[in-house]
Amino acid sequence: MLYSDKVLEHFAAPHNVGELPDADGVGEVGNAKCGDIMKMYIKVDDGKISDVKFKTFGCGAAIATSSIATDMIKGASIEDALKLTNSAVVEALDGLPASKVHCSVLAEQAVKAALADYYRKQGVDPTPIVGEI
Ligand code: FES
Ligand code: FES
Repeated sequence: MLYSDKVLEHFAAPHNVGELPDADGVGEVGNAKCGDIMKMYIKVDDGKISDVKFKTFGCGAAIATSSIATDMIKGASIEDALKLTNSAVVEALDGLPASKVHCSVLAEQAVKAALADYYRKQGVDPTPIVGEI
């Protein structure tokens, strides 16, 4: 089987799908190669990601990685959410085929883009904290 059970589970019934109208940060990233788009909304309370939702126009692996990435950062501190790497996402999904690893990069970038937007809205330059996205 090309995909792990975890990937199939998250693709069939993704967690945290939707939008947050009162989001504190919104990040949208796209993959130039495949054209897939991922949008991530976060709500921040007391330095923690109190809620997160996503919308992904993309492949099954992109949907599964967004789903598990939102699970991984929900309730986490901003600092921990910033440490989320695409390899941690791939590991949490019990692996991805090599040709689909770029989909997990999109999830990491979407989280970082949402956090960058959060910092911008607080009047803080996100680049030294979040890096280039
Ligand atoms: Fe993204 Fe096929 S290239 S869905
Ligand atoms: Fe491009 Fe999955 S094929 S994000």
